[in-house]
Amino acid sequence: MDVPETVRTALDDRPVAGKTCLEAGAGVGNATAGLLAAGADRVYAVTNDSDHAETVRERVGRDAAERAAVVEADLREIPLPADTVEVITAHGLFNVIPPASLPAVAAELTRVAAPGCHLVVDDYEPPPDDAPVRDLFAVENAAAELADGRPALTFYPADALRRLFAGYGWGFDRERTLLDPVPWTGSHVDAHAEAARESASALPDELGDPLSAEADRLADRIGGESVGAMYSVAMQLSC
Ligand SMILES: C[S@@+](CC[C@H](N)C(=O)[O-])C[C@H]1O[C@@H](n2cnc3c(N)ncnc32)[C@H](O)[C@@H]1O
Repeated sequence: MDVPETVRTALDDRPVAGKTCLEAGAGVGNATAGLLAAGADRVYAVTNDSDHAETVRERVGRDAAERAAVVEADLREIPLPADTVEVITAHGLFNVIPPASLPAVAAELTRVAAPGCHLVVDDYEPPPDDAPVRDLFAVENAAAELADGRPALTFYPADALRRLFAGYGWGFDRERTLLDPVPWTGSHVDAHAEAARESASALPDELGDPLSAEADRLADRIGGESVGAMYSVAMQLSC
């Protein structure tokens, strides 16, 4: 299984070998692949998206199937017992967690964490105000707010998540930079324009059509852009 460099860098100073781990927000399972490659005894890959769950199952394959379990669940209600997980990763998760859900997710990750558990939060600093991709994210968020009543993306500064988790008993261990700048490639930009169009399609035409058109215009203009930074914050729960 290929492990992206960002995941390798985030995990290379964490004690993963032989541990029970949880990937919070499994997506395509990059952190699950990294945890398995680093010798995890067991990895629970949790996602609320059934397509992502299937992708991770296929990626893990038969070779590592006995060490990995894909769990389709909401991170605000994780179907695992309290005090059982020794390493948790949230790689690129929190930017898709809206502010209203942050406390519930943080509380639930803390509940399943064993004393001394390690937590690795990897995410993106807010892009600079003048970055064109920021305009595209703004359109995506406007469409999502109107369609679903919540933003699609929120870029939390590393310091904000560090202080949030400190409130749940997690001590700060270290911070490192994973990407600087972040390469928002043409396919990332197109995927965000597509997400904006999808939310906009649920709106009345007079609202949705201009948002779709603006998403397309911005994606064409931007192409790809390298801007902003991705960080990794490591924390540990007190023993
Ligand atoms: C951007 S992806 C994360 C990428 C992934 N960690 C990786 O390294 O490949 C975000 C994932 O979090 C999941 N997710 C978002 N909110 C969730 C929630 N409340 N409960 C469970 N999964 C959630 C999404 O469905 C998606 O699978």
